Amino acid sequence: MIHRLCNAQDIADNSWNVFTVNNSVDVMVGFRNGKLFAFDNSCPHKGAPLSKGEFNGDRIVCHRHFYEFNIFSGKLENMPSWKKEDTWVEQNPAWRSSGDLKLYHAFIKEGSIYVEIP
Ligand code: FES
Repeated sequence: MIHRLCNAQDIADNSWNVFTVNNSVDVMVGFRNGKLFAFDNSCPHKGAPLSKGEFNGDRIVCHRHFYEFNIFSGKLENMPSWKKEDTWVEQNPAWRSSGDLKLYHAFIKEGSIYVEIP
């Protein structure tokens, strides 16, 4: 189903906003160097809100464990916390595992941003 979120000009370049769609899905929508992106705001690792993170190039860096996901492909591309402290007791293989971002199709039409939520 397609949902109108806001006016495209309401989100500045290199920033984002979060919209709750259908009272259940939190979608993080923004622009990175002029390119529109949209994905589920819940980190695929342990569910932290990705909107509290920051950009590293075309990646969003989760604020909780610093996993980095490409905002256009959705792919998990870097896991810095995974590499630095072997003594961190939580860092066993099961704990480290993570899926990719859940991307949503977003587009601009007549000045508005729309997102498609299946
Ligand atoms: S919850 Fe996001 S990296 Fe762990």
